[in-house]
Amino acid sequence: MNEGWHGWDAYAPFYDWENARTVGRRDIRFWQRQAASGGPVLELGSGTGRVLVPLARSGARVVGLDRSAHMLSYARRRIRRSRMTDSARLVRGDMRSLPFASEPGFRLVIAPYGVLQSLVRNQDLRRTFLSVHRVLRPGGLFVMELVTDVPRWREYDRRVSHVGRRRGGSAEIRLVESVRQDRVRQLTVFEQEFTERHRGHTRVHRFSLTFRTLSMRQMTGRLRRAGFTIERVDGDYEGGAWTSEAQTWLVVARRAA
Ligand SMILES: C[S@@+](CC[C@H](N)C(=O)[O-])C[C@H]1O[C@@H](n2cnc3c(N)ncnc32)[C@H](O)[C@@H]1O
Repeated sequence: MNEGWHGWDAYAPFYDWENARTVGRRDIRFWQRQAASGGPVLELGSGTGRVLVPLARSGARVVGLDRSAHMLSYARRRIRRSRMTDSARLVRGDMRSLPFASEPGFRLVIAPYGVLQSLVRNQDLRRTFLSVHRVLRPGGLFVMELVTDVPRWREYDRRVSHVGRRRGGSAEIRLVESVRQDRVRQLTVFEQEFTERHRGHTRVHRFSLTFRTLSMRQMTGRLRRAGFTIERVDGDYEGGAWTSEAQTWLVVARRAA
């Protein structure tokens, strides 16, 4: 079985290109509202800074943590370009053992866009929840989004998912993707093949990403066992009611004061 952190270095050059075609910016306002009452905020798995930089722009003091050096290098560039170097900081590390002291602690820890689904074993999730609990201030919030349509994807083999160009770029990019479901282990594996064509040259990048999706009961049960209380569970970014069919699951958990 692949580790959940595998594949992200290879994905880094294509992450923003593909996500501009999928999630885009539709979750950004939600995360800005969470961070509005001040920092410091820790984002787990901050990737290329898609969420981190808009949070810094809206006035929050943010720390982005990621295990992938390549994802971090794209985030670093984004922070520099947006001149947010005073309010956004990046740290390379693993969310299962957060490299921060317990004090003074973060007021808010966020895990956007299915980041926690990169934790593929029970012990990975347990270690992460205990680690987040430790670095949160008493009374602090842990807010996460789970992308729960992932296990509902039908399996397919080598489908052309997206074709296009980067903004301002001339190379053609093509994504060919395969999806496998392992229902027993609650795993979804995406095999991705990005092909870049530029002036007669072709480069192919292949990697796979593995996600584990638990039920809401399993997820909230594990949060409670790690010392959190569940404040709210929403089914969309505007506070809509959660159902098991909701496209996105938003869980707000609190560390006791
Ligand atoms: C779906 S991306 C999310 C990026 C960003 N939060 C966003 O919303 O666009 C998941 C990120 O989590 C990181 N990641 C996966 N496993 C990790 C781990 N164990 N510790 C730290 N980062 C991890 C990956 O490197 C990747 O950048």
